[in-house]
Amino acid sequence: MILVTGGAGFIGANFVLDWLAHSDEPVVNLDLLTYAGNRENLAALANDPRHIFVHGDIGDATLLAQLLETHQPRAVLNFAAESHVDRSIHAPEEFIQTNVVGTFRLLEAVRAYWSKLDGDARNAFRLLHVSTDEVYGSLGKDAPAFSETHRYEPNSPYSASKAASDHLVRAYHHTYGLPVLTTNCSNNYGPFHFPEKLIPLMIVNALADKALPVYGDGQQIRDWLYVKDHCSAIRRVLEAGTIGEVYNVGGWNEKPNLDIVHTVCALLDELRARADGKSYAEQITYVTDRPGHDRRYAIDASKIERELGWKPAETFDTGIRKTIAWYLDNQAWVTNVQSGAYREWVEKNYAERAA
Ligand code: NAD
Ligand code: TYD
Repeated sequence: MILVTGGAGFIGANFVLDWLAHSDEPVVNLDLLTYAGNRENLAALANDPRHIFVHGDIGDATLLAQLLETHQPRAVLNFAAESHVDRSIHAPEEFIQTNVVGTFRLLEAVRAYWSKLDGDARNAFRLLHVSTDEVYGSLGKDAPAFSETHRYEPNSPYSASKAASDHLVRAYHHTYGLPVLTTNCSNNYGPFHFPEKLIPLMIVNALADKALPVYGDGQQIRDWLYVKDHCSAIRRVLEAGTIGEVYNVGGWNEKPNLDIVHTVCALLDELRARADGKSYAEQITYVTDRPGHDRRYAIDASKIERELGWKPAETFDTGIRKTIAWYLDNQAWVTNVQSGAYREWVEKNYAERAA
């Protein structure tokens, strides 16, 4: 079996669902259920004995030791993190606790467990750490995309905390020989994406007749990958990646934010037209920029393509259509995640951004 951390969040839940759609190997899913964790994301597995959910913290050394001892996983995949840049600007402490201290505790627990394994089990064991392209910092307009050897230049408390976790993972391989794999992926989008992030926020606000808040000039560039393609890349790296190596994951899909917002509006115009017949683009509002806002991210995915034969299945056009269809079909999920805590965050983040 495998142990997944953070498997009630956006990417983790997609990964667990995908994993069990592709194999019968059971999953132990350790998740703290922060504001971003949601058991509803895993509702399809409610009666599935292959999925064991454990409510807990990756920073809890006792719990980790007990879970590893009881379940004897052949791999641990670390998705658990605080993941939103804007929240890291307002309140960085949790990012240090989970992303840095939590990853450290996980590494220590896994090292103790792995060092006691023998023979085949020890050789087969892997720790896969899920990270982000944001650790590489911001690219100039014409600079080549991030390769695995790009220097680390994190600019936000979020990316700095992820960079620290990547360094710890690397160090545990070099110092203790722990069999680690690291993936650094570009921006994901798709089902179960919490509506504090750009794409789901725009879909949800558009349908609720609210402003579509574009930070600054909207010309910041992100490189978008459909979440299920990220999941297939992780499965492939786990299966065939070389121990100690880093794999950048992306779909060669660089787009300015404003283009993304216009695409979302055009698809909603087509699929769920506004009652007044006008375009959702009328709701676009320019608001104060994010402090320290990274201008451009872009992933050079040639290593994972060349060495592991991985390629994304979706283009941006097919992936964004599926995503919008999912949100239109899952209005109850959207309503449920927009709790009091969600409304408080939206109030805090956007009230101070003068239009
Ligand atoms: P998310 O915020 O949607 O989910 C994070 C999950 O981790 C939640 O279920 C939360 O409850 C859980 N969690 C938080 N702190 C925990 C703790 N201390 N112990 C156990 N569980 C805890 O994040 P996501 O977008 O699904 O991202 C998952 C991983 O992928 C993160 O490591 C993130 O850095 C990385 N990543 C995300 C993106 C992206 O575009 N979202 C891109 C590349 C990499
Ligand atoms: P986000 O989804 O928060 O991901 P990240 O900052 O990790 O890339 O934001 C994606 C881009 O969209 C980023 O450049 C910030 C911008 N953005 C807006 O313009 N308006 C918004 O309301 C949000 C949440 C993000």
